[in-house]
Amino acid sequence: MSTIGIAIVGAAGYGGQELLRLVATHPVFRVVHAGSRTHGGREVSEVLPQLQGFYRGLRFAGVETGIPAEAAAVVLAAPHGAARTLWPEIVAGRPDLRVVDLSADFRLKDRAAFDAYYGGAHPSLDAALDFVYGVPETNREAIRRARHVANPGCFATGAVLALAPLAEAGALRGDVCIAATTGSSGSGAEPKEGTHHPERAQDMRAYKVLAHQHLPEIEQELRRISGGGLFELSMVPQSGPFSRGIFTVAQLRVPDGVDAPALFRARYAREPFVRLRAETPALRHVVRTNFCDVAVVQKGTKVAVLSALDNLVKGMSGQALQNLNLMFELEETAGLLVPGANP
Ligand SMILES: NC(=O)c1ccc[n+]([C@@H]2O[C@H](COP(=O)([O-])OP(=O)(O)OC[C@H]3O[C@@H](n4cnc5c(N)ncnc54)[C@H](OP(=O)(O)O)[C@@H]3O)[C@@H](O)[C@H]2O)c1
Repeated sequence: MSTIGIAIVGAAGYGGQELLRLVATHPVFRVVHAGSRTHGGREVSEVLPQLQGFYRGLRFAGVETGIPAEAAAVVLAAPHGAARTLWPEIVAGRPDLRVVDLSADFRLKDRAAFDAYYGGAHPSLDAALDFVYGVPETNREAIRRARHVANPGCFATGAVLALAPLAEAGALRGDVCIAATTGSSGSGAEPKEGTHHPERAQDMRAYKVLAHQHLPEIEQELRRISGGGLFELSMVPQSGPFSRGIFTVAQLRVPDGVDAPALFRARYAREPFVRLRAETPALRHVVRTNFCDVAVVQKGTKVAVLSALDNLVKGMSGQALQNLNLMFELEETAGLLVPGANP
């Protein structure tokens, strides 16, 4: 089978590394450009020893190197704010280039929401209208046709998958309260106060309470699939004492007569990366996999939905690869089906 070249901008960051790991065994995609401002010229497997034995001879490309013509797609794995600056240069003269952006630069369609949660100059915000929001489970057909995909945030993926079956069934009403705990890799490879091991390892705390920047994209997607919906979302994000994973708890009341577990069974029966659990999901069963495990508990009209995923895989680079598989009409699961582990 012939290969398809992909380029990664920000390839040495956590998302870039994870994509390199996944593409290393992909049957069709081949990395033809691994961009890094810091490591330009150095061998990928020298900088990232976990990849030794893969990518022989591939060197990181510095900033002076543009996306090569042999790349049919580029994944932007750079921090929020970089993609919007790089955008004109990336698409110039390459109308055919497929783009998957891991940042939040092109996720929101509403300028006011963007300004409220992110702000700053966005010279390419109009391009966001052309981006398809990349949750394959809710947006598969649009992703297949898309040239540009905005990969969802990690919290957003866990929350959307926890609530989509209820939204699609018109059962998302009233207050929907989300609490989600993330590991320290959620804030990237650069050390920060909130990721410093002695302060994080034995601790648990909330941050950006009711004000996290993923809230508007969760709302945007749930409103799109519910056709509007009279619900109000709130979210309390928390930092957990682990490096990978997001565990989400969503609580709400559903209208009389709604059988939430039955809705989830029917909706996710054929989804390759959503696994329903009878009891609680566990991070250790999904870490380093592209699975999102989900459990639904109902007592009368009260419903709690629990979801667990790996923020760097289903919450980021695994989902990006799932989207690329769809965009290039490959098997959606190609390169992504590995079982979980225990412990
Ligand atoms: N971590 C998560 O769980 C997660 C989940 C979903 C989405 N995201 C989003 O995905 C993106 C990448 O996140 P990450 O966790 O991989 O971050 P990261 O570990 O900080 O990696 C980003 C890399 O981008 C490169 N970079 C920095 N500024 C750049 C610029 N102006 N232009 C080009 N490259 C630049 C840096 O590498 P060099 O110095 O080597 O160039 C850096 O290592 C972010 O937008 C983040 O919000 C993260």
